Amino acid sequence: MINKQTKIAVQCRSIVKTYGSGASEVFALRGVDLDLYEGELLMLVGPSGCGKTTFISIVTALLKADSGVCEVLGQDINALTLEQKVLFRRQSIGFVFQAFNLLPALTAQENVAVPLLIQGRNRKAAMHEAKAVLDSVGLGERIGALPSELSGGQQQRVAIARALVHRPKLIVCDEPTSSLDHKSGQMVMQLLRHIADQSNTTLLVVTHDNRIYHFGDRMAHMDDGRIIKTEMIQEKKETSE
Ligand SMILES: Nc1ncnc2c1ncn2[C@@H]1O[C@H](COP(=O)(O)OP(=O)(O)OP(=O)(O)O)[C@@H](O)[C@H]1O
Ligand SMILES: [Mg+2]
Repeated sequence: MINKQTKIAVQCRSIVKTYGSGASEVFALRGVDLDLYEGELLMLVGPSGCGKTTFISIVTALLKADSGVCEVLGQDINALTLEQKVLFRRQSIGFVFQAFNLLPALTAQENVAVPLLIQGRNRKAAMHEAKAVLDSVGLGERIGALPSELSGGQQQRVAIARALVHRPKLIVCDEPTSSLDHKSGQMVMQLLRHIADQSNTTLLVVTHDNRIYHFGDRMAHMDDGRIIKTEMIQEKKETSE
């Protein structure tokens, strides 16, 4: 629920980003202003090429803006060194991609344990924690499966478990349902909705899929490198099949 007391998790002002230079210069972001609140699920929508992936890459400090200010979880992203950015991502951000990006030679449990191992946790504790999170996404029975032995929807749930396992304050999802059939997509969104409701995690979900819009609290419309409109989503509790 967003109300006057809700804290801001992400605050972006006048973000500009161009790729290339001279004749091949592309204006990807032309001055993006957007706030995200703690504990909300924000849908970022807009036509292909309008700048959505560029924007989330800047919010997650994977890409540097040409100008503008971006404060994420109280941290001015521009003020961080490269090393600090890596640490910041490891500790505070979870990623979910369209293509799942699981490591094919690792089991579901090992894939989910990876962020904790990178943080320096011992293997036993990391594997234990990974199992608990896989249980919570309904995959407790398949922890030993390789990605190739899982359905697309199951692989995406493993990817969500991996994004969750280090308890990030911000989870960023780029087209999380577009490789999935309708039913699996709905299941994945129910899971993301549940995360937003149960913890104070902020979720930023980029999507083209209008069948999942109602899972969001708010929708931000991007066009040609700008946010042109934000609106509350009314029917977010409706989880039609
Ligand atoms: N590395 C790059 N080099 C040059 N131009 C790029 C690069 N990445 C993106 N662009 C351009 O920047 C613009 C915004 O791209 P971006 O990937 O952010 O769009 P998007 O909204 O995520 O699109 P889609 O919905 O297709 O994923 C596009 O015109 C794209 O061609
Ligand atoms: Mg994109």
